[in-house]
Amino acid sequence: MKIVVIGPGAMGCLFAALLTESGQDVLLFDHLPDRAAFLAREGLRVEGVSGDRRVRLPVSINPADARAAELVLVCVKAYHTRAAITNIGPGLSIQARVMTLQNGVGNVEVLSEVCGPDRVLGGVTSHGATVLGPGHVRHAGTGETIIGAVGHVPESFLNQTADIFTAAGFQTSVADKVDSLIWSKLIVNVGINPLAAITRLKNGQLLDYPGTERIMEQAVAEALAVTAARGVELIFPDPLAHVKHVARATAGNTASMLQDVLAGRQTEIDNINGAIVAHGRELNIPTPVNETLTGLVKTIEMNYLNQK
Ligand code: PAF
Repeated sequence: MKIVVIGPGAMGCLFAALLTESGQDVLLFDHLPDRAAFLAREGLRVEGVSGDRRVRLPVSINPADARAAELVLVCVKAYHTRAAITNIGPGLSIQARVMTLQNGVGNVEVLSEVCGPDRVLGGVTSHGATVLGPGHVRHAGTGETIIGAVGHVPESFLNQTADIFTAAGFQTSVADKVDSLIWSKLIVNVGINPLAAITRLKNGQLLDYPGTERIMEQAVAEALAVTAARGVELIFPDPLAHVKHVARATAGNTASMLQDVLAGRQTEIDNINGAIVAHGRELNIPTPVNETLTGLVKTIEMNYLNQK
């Protein structure tokens, strides 16, 4: 399959490298000319649970090179989704489909608005990856990937995509309700990401301290109230137990939001805890803990972004 991966961050590099290795025709799309030239020259370096190697693949900054894509995998940060798909989307063939496995809510909505829901696939992945340098990632952990159609994507395309991802090392299944998948992962990110970003603890350590564990429980409880009021059915019978399970299963991981803070980048707080606050307001559900976490992460972020 002709696959374009947008964004050479942790997940983008991981998916681009493993899909290339498994024989897919992958193009990595970047918006920074110097970095793209470096990646085209040096390839991607992957180390960690799937082994250490360098993977060479074409890299482009030119939307015209994405024209032949059958699948576009959007791996940029949530706040860049609109710019990324607006850049590439208009040049894509009408048969091309776009897929998000990004953290947070709002990405499916943006892709559907720009490309039409019948061309959009959404989902979640439990694979963990950390950027160690440009095009250099540590594959920190494996887990399941679940995808689904937002609009009327043919089942054959969904199954073909799941098979291709599975063959590349991302064990992938197909589910019915994309909203359920995305909100179930959102709950995990709500409980882990801001606490990691604020305390600078690794995921597993968040459960070592009564303070962080308690705040995690409160933030998740608020998110569950919002989720229930929205009528979204979660895929885990005990979501809080699942959040704690993920924290333990990814104990050694530096959560993506902490990676952002350490790199002085904007975080995805608005699409994670900030989204719980926004939806809570609409539904008249108080979310004071998520509001506090959002305020703290935004303060940390503004402090370093203002210094740039
Ligand atoms: O954002 C992240 O880092 C990941 O989604 C997760 C599951 C919290 C593991 O680090």
